[in-house]
Amino acid sequence: MNIQAHRKDEHVIIAEKQYQENAQTDLNEVQLMFDSLPELALDEIDISTKLANYPIAAPFFINAMTGGSPETGKLNARLAKIAAANGLALATGSQSVALADSTAVSSFQVVRQNDPTGMILANLGASHGLDHALKAIAMTNAQALEIHLNPAQELVMPEGDRSFYWLENLKQLVDECPVPVIVKEVGMGLTPKTLNKLQQIGVKYVDLAGHGGTNFVTIENQRRHRKEYSFMADSGLSTAKSLLAVQAYRENFSITASGGIRNALDIVKCLVLGADNVGISGLFLHTLIKQGDAGLDQLIKDLKIEVAKIMLLLGCRSISDLHHENVFLSEKLLAFQQQLTH
Ligand code: FNR
Repeated sequence: MNIQAHRKDEHVIIAEKQYQENAQTDLNEVQLMFDSLPELALDEIDISTKLANYPIAAPFFINAMTGGSPETGKLNARLAKIAAANGLALATGSQSVALADSTAVSSFQVVRQNDPTGMILANLGASHGLDHALKAIAMTNAQALEIHLNPAQELVMPEGDRSFYWLENLKQLVDECPVPVIVKEVGMGLTPKTLNKLQQIGVKYVDLAGHGGTNFVTIENQRRHRKEYSFMADSGLSTAKSLLAVQAYRENFSITASGGIRNALDIVKCLVLGADNVGISGLFLHTLIKQGDAGLDQLIKDLKIEVAKIMLLLGCRSISDLHHENVFLSEKLLAFQQQLTH
């Protein structure tokens, strides 16, 4: 197995080892206000929304994780079957490994084979040109392409990139890709600095991938002999802070929130803070590993009902109603919000 494919196996193993039930997303610092007279019935609640302008039945999806090795191909096949059975969108992990090594292609194709009609998102890093993007999209006949920005991960990764001139390439991808391009972080949170640049090149879809859940700085640090980058562990922008930082850009972007989502209340808080949908990786991987396919299937079914119940408690029939809800922030988040400059 080549080094890239081996790294994919390591990512899954270390991500699961580092998984924490209590994610540090700061979403616990956001208070919702319920209505004890909601004048609504549960079957009136509509949890459907859009992802990259594509209609999706639930406001959450299986975000990018894996593929590239025989073991991760098996995980992709299981995730795709569960996504298909529940009508969830699914992103594959980065496909760069399959562009360099044709034996890895089947570990991604298996996603489309097991989910023939669902929404699949392709995934690549921001250094890949249009030719690679087209190949990645064709590999799974994807309806959208996620491009991940991961400079912190690369810099901590012993064999990672050291040069990051990505913007011009990103503009070409956004201009010329036949499917919508979602630009995402991988767990450090997108900041206003980055959003300003993305806005200038016409990016319409962003996934904040905030700090608090899966942490690629600590995953890559774990792969280093001396593990000298532990000081960077908490340096990202939490999911709640990243959502606050994006408020000024809500007109310009359709927002995916992700990073450390653990339950239906987290999902609804992200939607109230302006997200159109929510991506989940670590929780779904952990559930698949610990409770098997049936456990993940049940979790997804439970989350759909629980999201609807929380919406009812808020008196909101739809995701767009949630966008008009007020949020109440702790002093810590309020202080952060007041310091944001754009
Ligand atoms: C990821 N993530 C990821 N993202 C990406 O864009 N390309 C990738 O190849 C991967 N690989 C990957 C592997 C594993 C094992 C995990 C758990 C995650 C990052 C993921 O999509 C997401 O942005 C972050 O993990 C934050 O969400 P969670 O995991 O805290 O819900």
